[in-house]
Amino acid sequence: MNSDIQQIIEEIKERNDIVQVISSYIQVKSAGSNYKASCPFHTEKTPSFTISPQKQMYKCFGCGEGGDVIKFVMKMENLDFLEALKLLGEKVGIEIPQGEINEEVRENISKNQRLYEMHLVAARYFFHALLANKRKGYQYLIDRGLDEKTIKYFGLGYALNNWEDLTKYLVTKGYEEEELVQGGLILQKKNKKGYIDRFVNRIMFPIFDVRGKVIGFGGRVLDDSLPKYLNSPENPIFNKRCNLYGLNFARKYIEDETLIVVEGYMDAIGLFQFGIKNVVASLGTALTKEQGKLIKRYAKRVIMAYDSDEAGTKATLRGMNVLKELGIEVKILNLNDAKDPDEYIRNKGVEVFKDSLEKSVPLIQFKIDNLRKEYNLDVAEENVNFTKRVSKLLKEIKSPIELEYYIHKVSKESGISINAIGSEVYGKYYNPRQFKNNIAKKIEKIKIEKNGAEIAEKQVMKLFLTYKELRSLILLKLDIDDFLLAENREILNYIIKSKDLDIITIDNLKNINIDEGIINELFNINIEHIDVNIALEDMVKTLKRNSLKHKIDALLKEQSMLEKKKQDKNIDASEVERKLLNIGIKIMEKQKMLNDIL
Ligand code: GTP
Ligand code: MN
Repeated sequence: MNSDIQQIIEEIKERNDIVQVISSYIQVKSAGSNYKASCPFHTEKTPSFTISPQKQMYKCFGCGEGGDVIKFVMKMENLDFLEALKLLGEKVGIEIPQGEINEEVRENISKNQRLYEMHLVAARYFFHALLANKRKGYQYLIDRGLDEKTIKYFGLGYALNNWEDLTKYLVTKGYEEEELVQGGLILQKKNKKGYIDRFVNRIMFPIFDVRGKVIGFGGRVLDDSLPKYLNSPENPIFNKRCNLYGLNFARKYIEDETLIVVEGYMDAIGLFQFGIKNVVASLGTALTKEQGKLIKRYAKRVIMAYDSDEAGTKATLRGMNVLKELGIEVKILNLNDAKDPDEYIRNKGVEVFKDSLEKSVPLIQFKIDNLRKEYNLDVAEENVNFTKRVSKLLKEIKSPIELEYYIHKVSKESGISINAIGSEVYGKYYNPRQFKNNIAKKIEKIKIEKNGAEIAEKQVMKLFLTYKELRSLILLKLDIDDFLLAENREILNYIIKSKDLDIITIDNLKNINIDEGIINELFNINIEHIDVNIALEDMVKTLKRNSLKHKIDALLKEQSMLEKKKQDKNIDASEVERKLLNIGIKIMEKQKMLNDIL
């Protein structure tokens, strides 16, 4: 959270004594160490409205209304949080800088602030309880293989074996029982007489939002009793559907735009400790669309690493569909015989785990592999049935390239001809040659279009060099590898590295060793007739298209090379297969992007 604004809020609260502020609205009387008044929020005969100068809080025991000085002003004047803050600020001469109040801050300092605060206070309390008595909870985590560094990094804690421990602590910290109930940290007793902690004798996993604010807890028992995990209930700051455990950490370690999604807290933490840090846990539910969208903000690819039991497999399948619909590329990790990723990495080590990550397979492969388990392919009839069911699965594939790949693969495995499987999939006579022709045509088309794209690229470069004010805009829309000409990449690289976008002009290109012929050519490119506002968008698209086609072209070449290689008896065919599959998928992905631009 923005600490400046936090500080301002604290200062405004500090300087606005709650007793004084409330006295300016209603008549208050001293009563022991507290003050009493007739509640302004409901009609009453005997005063049950109490103000505590120590806690700087008010509370009405008649209607239940309570809070701090800001809350009081909000209620009294019918203002929102910011308006009340402003009003109180004015009284003591503190101005709230407008710049500070962006969307994020506004959200943060709204009425949810108390909830965030109490979670942080509770998390610290659990944390200290774990580390102060390095006995029960601490020993449990050590026994499970966590080291102290990891425990501290994730802020793990321990809820003592005492039903009122946290309740009492938070009340002394100035929190009202009702708001603690609302935050899900404590519960009202069934007989309504008093309160108890929600979490007792449990290992506490603080759940953070992406910005690293504690919004809830997961609490695990230390033995086999049930429920194994107790999670905070939903509340205004904790919405399970919209959060992923560990994303606040993982987002700093995204590699290759890939995020690993696991089921459990312990999986995420375990992998993290072993140095696999781009990992989040879905908090025991199947992935939701909201979680998918959150992932999409940070990654393009997901590797699902759910538990290998039936529930995990089902959740994987559901989660994959959600992610696929959002355009995220999804693969699935094979855990072999391990029950979950945590066990897998502990038993087999990081290297094996990383190797398995590399070998993760796409959904369709995962489904085929699962299906295969049900059949004995040596028995002719089962083989036929297996192939039929796989053919049905293949119908879901939208990309012709991917489909082609799998038809070949299944044919090889089952010994049933490509044409037969193709016909089963397409529901009519299938002629694979037609497919190859299509690809050949595509390559031809790419070659023809190349010249036009080159001109566009040179023009963009000239615009870039001529109009300094366009530079950051162009860099926002295009990546360096969208430029295919080596000299253009070199110029861009230089400019980006120099951190000062203004530094280079066509005149001083010589300083970075750009060939004179190329500089002359740049000078001669005519952009006078170009209306930048209209043309730039178009040019950017042309460049994007061209670079995508170029990449697809290269991938197709690699594909046909590998196809040849596959014939070679001395080569590990499964390795080549895997590479081919990856290439097929990359081609698909690029083609989708290309279609989106067209
Ligand atoms: P360990 O068994 O300690 O290794 O933990 P785990 O994280 O691997 O747990 P598990 O695979 O059993 O469950 C995966 C996730 O589902 C957990 O991290 C929890 O978020 C959730 N979960 C598991 N058991 C329960 C439960 O009893 N209640 C609730 N609410 N959630 C649970
Ligand atoms: Mn597990």
